[in-house]
Amino acid sequence: MSTSGLRVCVIGMGPIGNLHASIYREDPLAELVGVCDVIRERADAAAARLGVRSLAAPSRGVPAFYETRQMLEALHPDLCSVTTGGYEYGSDHYEPTMQALEAGCHVLGEKPICNEILKAEEMVAKAREVGVCYGINLNHRFTPAAYLAKKWQDEGRIGPLLFITMSMWIKNPAESSPYYMIKALNPHTVDVMRHFGGDVEAVQCFATRAPGRTIWSTAHFSMRFKNGAIGGLTASYDVERGHPMERCEVGGVNGRFVIDDMWRQVTLYPAGNLEKTVYTNPVFGGMRDFPDTFRNRIHKFLEQVSEGVPPDQIDGSGADGLAAQQVLQAAIESLETESVVTVRGECSLSLPGRGPG
Ligand SMILES: NC(=O)c1ccc[n+]([C@@H]2O[C@H](COP(=O)([O-])OP(=O)(O)OC[C@H]3O[C@@H](n4cnc5c(N)ncnc54)[C@H](O)[C@@H]3O)[C@@H](O)[C@H]2O)c1
Repeated sequence: MSTSGLRVCVIGMGPIGNLHASIYREDPLAELVGVCDVIRERADAAAARLGVRSLAAPSRGVPAFYETRQMLEALHPDLCSVTTGGYEYGSDHYEPTMQALEAGCHVLGEKPICNEILKAEEMVAKAREVGVCYGINLNHRFTPAAYLAKKWQDEGRIGPLLFITMSMWIKNPAESSPYYMIKALNPHTVDVMRHFGGDVEAVQCFATRAPGRTIWSTAHFSMRFKNGAIGGLTASYDVERGHPMERCEVGGVNGRFVIDDMWRQVTLYPAGNLEKTVYTNPVFGGMRDFPDTFRNRIHKFLEQVSEGVPPDQIDGSGADGLAAQQVLQAAIESLETESVVTVRGECSLSLPGRGPG
């Protein structure tokens, strides 16, 4: 357990909050000082498991709180993870995020940033007003394979962008809102696509329901990026785990790359050259499992906050989380109206245009 670094609290102690807390406890840039859940048993169980020690109460060892504001007033953390869930896996993020931001904390929120666009906009605006760093756990692009792919892109090895095709398939049998899969799964996929392709201008969505399901559990999204490139995304909550779960292909005039399963492998296919370059996750020193994407993402946020990176330059920012949600909102409108919908929203990324590359 580290004893220095940014003083961190975690709000929402479900499985994901517990994962965040364990990671903070092991990260040398953080000191986990408190956990909070409105369900007392969850807060108590997490605190007992984690042995959280607070500088304010070193003898107690385990400060569990049941109300965010109380915890903020008692501990004055530097940074909070907001790992609540709620309707569409995102409705509970708003209140504690706003409270933590108002208390001057940097916040790393879980995805989706919020299930309601207007509230998500308020959250991003509040972080800007207070001047703190606001990140979203868009963990799928915080992997060595994705970093390498980005480096190839920055070096011009993809060149003027033509297309991005992305798929993500997992099993989630939960039946809630009709748009649960679209809103809760696809912050990840849209973020990865925006990461390599920039802002999305227009979207058309078709969706279907697996036998016995009431929600739109599998969907396809056609997109046009602002830079003119095109994109296709297939996403599903109907595919049993065990086989590959994610694939992203980015193609340009100079070449294309394919990232398989976030960190397992990335392959560069240079145009006009039959020798491809393959990076495979190494056995020694490589990523072990999915929680490592959380470790990388959380460490990057801690690093950027510690180094004083300006809030508008945070990787996987609140603005990125909002932009992804705006694409998904347009997709829902497209599904409802059977039309192509223009994505409303701010442009938060300056990303690869079609210039020389
Ligand atoms: N990034 C990823 O890869 C990934 C993967 C899975 C889930 N998630 C996200 O993680 C989040 C949490 O998922 P989970 O499965 O742990 O959810 P969960 O519902 O099991 O846990 C959320 C907890 O937050 C608590 N809570 C709600 N409002 C609160 C408040 N105002 N103050 C304090 N506690 C509050 C609830 O009581 C609950 O215990 C979701 O938003 C989900 O979308 C992210």
